[in-house]
Amino acid sequence: MTYAIVFAVCTFAVLSLAVGADLPDPLLVGGTESTWGSFPSAAFIRTPTLSFCGAAVIHPEFVLTLAQCVLNGTATHLPEHVEIIAGDLNVFPQSVERQTRSGREIIVHRNFTAFNLRNDIALVRVDRAFKLPSNTVELAVRRKRITPSEEVCLLPGWNIQRTTTSGKIESGQKYLSVEILDRDMCNEAHIHEGRVRESMLCGGNLFQSSNAACSGNLGCPLYCGEQLVGLMSFGANCGLANDPPVFSQVRYFNRWIDEEILERVVN
Ligand SMILES: *[C@@H]1O[C@H](CO)[C@@H](O)[C@H](O)[C@H]1NC(C)=O
Ligand SMILES: *[C@@H]1O[C@H](CO)[C@@H](O)[C@H](O)[C@H]1NC(C)=O
Repeated sequence: MTYAIVFAVCTFAVLSLAVGADLPDPLLVGGTESTWGSFPSAAFIRTPTLSFCGAAVIHPEFVLTLAQCVLNGTATHLPEHVEIIAGDLNVFPQSVERQTRSGREIIVHRNFTAFNLRNDIALVRVDRAFKLPSNTVELAVRRKRITPSEEVCLLPGWNIQRTTTSGKIESGQKYLSVEILDRDMCNEAHIHEGRVRESMLCGGNLFQSSNAACSGNLGCPLYCGEQLVGLMSFGANCGLANDPPVFSQVRYFNRWIDEEILERVVN
């Protein structure tokens, strides 16, 4: 494993000068390379303070992401300073299938609390609808029903690192297999100490693992049976033990999402 590069901080200022410069953290360890079309609603955003945060396209004009991805302290970023990227497996170089948008409006859940990450969810309305149908972008289907423990789900994330031998930069999407864990177990004292609420799901590695997402992949969407079930909110642990990833559970926010969209879009 190329843990050697686990120190630098990831900024796109650095990324855009990437060749030859210090590279940011790997964002994901292990995993399997995604193929085109596997996760057509998986997207990512960039803001003035975050070079990368995951998101999911849920409507031609809206992506779902985390509150913590669009806030700078207690204020939201200006929407026009947020870039939304869908339809691409690579962070760079960008592929011709990529659809890049600017934000038009940012809607943060009003009950988001940063210290315990409750209601860590936000919508970003884009300045121009995504072009659909598309070979690489498709709207997420949001799951409405309960996701049971032990269901095995998939988490696409992105990975940016230089392979040591060739000096080549890897920036592609990879996915991890994530088993949903029992909430009570995740809430045990040596794990998440009661922080995993009903509006969250806990899943992924409980023990040390060489297949895990790192904090650079917060916001990445979790899919179970091809339905959007969560967005990774904390515990993006790079494979450490006793810190399993915790997801904002989309089901719990479906009504809020529908109401916020309906208020803005007539269709
Ligand atoms: C973020 O917030 C800080 C403190 O309020 C402010 O000084 C800074 O300009 C903000 N940064 C951006 C990019 O908005
Ligand atoms: C926020 O919390 C208040 C008080 O608990 C509740 O009445 C309200 O419905 C919540 N808002 C949303 C959008 O869930």
